[in-house]
Amino acid sequence: MKTENSRVTIHMVSSLDGFIAKKDGSVSWMHSTDTYDKGIELTKEYIADFLASIDCYIMGSRTYEQAIELGWPYGDVPVFVLTNRDLKSDKKTVQFLSGDLTEIVNKQLRPGYANIWMVGGAMLTKEFLRLGLADEINIAILPILLGAGTLFFDYIGKEQLLHLKDVTAFKDGMVELCYEIKKE
Ligand SMILES: NC(=O)c1ccc[n+]([C@@H]2O[C@H](COP(=O)([O-])OP(=O)(O)OC[C@H]3O[C@@H](n4cnc5c(N)ncnc54)[C@H](OP(=O)(O)O)[C@@H]3O)[C@@H](O)[C@H]2O)c1
Repeated sequence: MKTENSRVTIHMVSSLDGFIAKKDGSVSWMHSTDTYDKGIELTKEYIADFLASIDCYIMGSRTYEQAIELGWPYGDVPVFVLTNRDLKSDKKTVQFLSGDLTEIVNKQLRPGYANIWMVGGAMLTKEFLRLGLADEINIAILPILLGAGTLFFDYIGKEQLLHLKDVTAFKDGMVELCYEIKKE
């Protein structure tokens, strides 16, 4: 059952038109060259503090494979990867999981980790929202329209009320929106 203190946050970087990846998979669009004078600085300390608060990550296998390719950003924090394939990793912190996603999140992850981050991709986001497994959505919107690619919210198929918890604008034009998912 759910640990009282555990929180599952869906986190994603998105274009303003709702895409989380370009068709060709390139990621240069994730580095903004814009300036917004009233925004706060995204310093190394800010990022380090923020990352230090995350107890584990959960992701789909495609997101995992891309992270391996681009350079592992998760340090030594435990990472749970959903897959139906027989994947292997040389990283001790990586564990591959399959089966009932609700059981995985509520029985395996919530009892052991307080701050759980679901970091992609679109397929897993859809499953988390449909099954009601997330508590928050944290979206960092970059100042760009991509026009095509992988949608963050790819026809979830259900309506979901949200509560806006926080908004932060950064000097590079990125806006972070944090929503609590209202439980029915
Ligand atoms: N902008 C951002 O912040 C951001 C963040 C993350 C990812 N992305 C982008 O998103 C794209 C990947 O997203 P995606 O939607 O294509 O894939 P994904 O959600 O990362 O991974 C999908 C895969 O996860 C596995 N999976 C999903 N649900 C499962 C379940 N219940 N049980 C077992 N396995 C399950 C399956 O793996 P198997 O096929 O191995 O069985 C499935 O093919 C990439 O292009 C990446 O660049 C962007």
